[in-house]
Amino acid sequence: MILALETSCDDTCAAVVTGAGEVLASVVSSQGVHDRFGGVVPEIASRHHLELVNAVVDDALRQAGCGLDDVTLVAVTQGPGLVGALLIGVATAKGLAAARRLPLAPVDHLQGHVAANFLAPDPIKPPFLCLIASGGHTLLVRVTDHHGYEVLGRTLDDAAGEAFDKGARLLGLGYPGGPALSKLALAGDPAAFAFPTAARVPGLDFSFAGLKTALLYAVRDLGEDETAHRAADLAASYEHAIVEALMARIERALAAEPGARLALGGGVAANRRLRARAEGLGVEVKVPPPELCTDNAAMIGSAARWVERVAHPGYLALDAYATGRRRRAA
Ligand code: KG4
Ligand code: ZN
Repeated sequence: MILALETSCDDTCAAVVTGAGEVLASVVSSQGVHDRFGGVVPEIASRHHLELVNAVVDDALRQAGCGLDDVTLVAVTQGPGLVGALLIGVATAKGLAAARRLPLAPVDHLQGHVAANFLAPDPIKPPFLCLIASGGHTLLVRVTDHHGYEVLGRTLDDAAGEAFDKGARLLGLGYPGGPALSKLALAGDPAAFAFPTAARVPGLDFSFAGLKTALLYAVRDLGEDETAHRAADLAASYEHAIVEALMARIERALAAEPGARLALGGGVAANRRLRARAEGLGVEVKVPPPELCTDNAAMIGSAARWVERVAHPGYLALDAYATGRRRRAA
């Protein structure tokens, strides 16, 4: 029984996952206090994690019908993310593990997004290509084993989720912007505005900065009233451009690897239009349910199954990392 914690951004998450990858409980407490700032305020996120984390862990254990005595491994997101937010999860995990002399598995958040695809009931087995698209990262990777991946392409500027969030902000929608913009887009025409898809960026890298600027100019040119009137069309066209920019790189990668299978991960993989486009590719596609695409601890518990465990008390010096990928304390 793996007890997993995830606090890299503004969601306080705990889950109980079995060694076979069954999710017995996955609790996500969204803080909902960052909306008025138009983005996550790191210090506020840390404070809320501190207030919520114990209750969220208790909820997860209760929902799973087990207690700490049943837990054999504690897993936690070590990074990347907001370092103050990560530290709450890391400190809590250390405390829970140390109290029972349990081993601890430090998990990389992006590996977690990949590992959402390894959960029951339909785990995908490597090798496969995977798009990881979240608020902070956008990568196209080749997954050859359960431990890690090889990066084939990455964003040169903004992440896809960040593009959704910034676009939503320009249209006066709340945070997180992806779900709000996507909902508004349902009533709009994706062909109403021709937004750029970074067609000139070669290879498998992504770029979303030009798209965001194009929306900014469109909103300026339309003026306030007309922008409000055309908001659904703007949202649909903007979403279309993000999805097509992602799909263009996926299609290039698949063309270079005939027979390859595809998986998606990260918050943007919850997007309806992206899921539909990927599922229409004509290759085998694995997409986790939306609640396992956005941040959650079940994916961290899943990844932990292949992470080198640190025995007690070795992890007491373990630190969080904001960027990059490190597994152990120095
Ligand atoms: O993976 P995630 O929950 O957190 C990070 O690791 O960043 O991803 C959050 C991002 C946000 O930018 C959010 O706007 C976006 O995923 N997102 C979506 C949708 N749901 C979440 N973007 C588009 N459509 C959605 N349905
Ligand atoms: Zn994430």
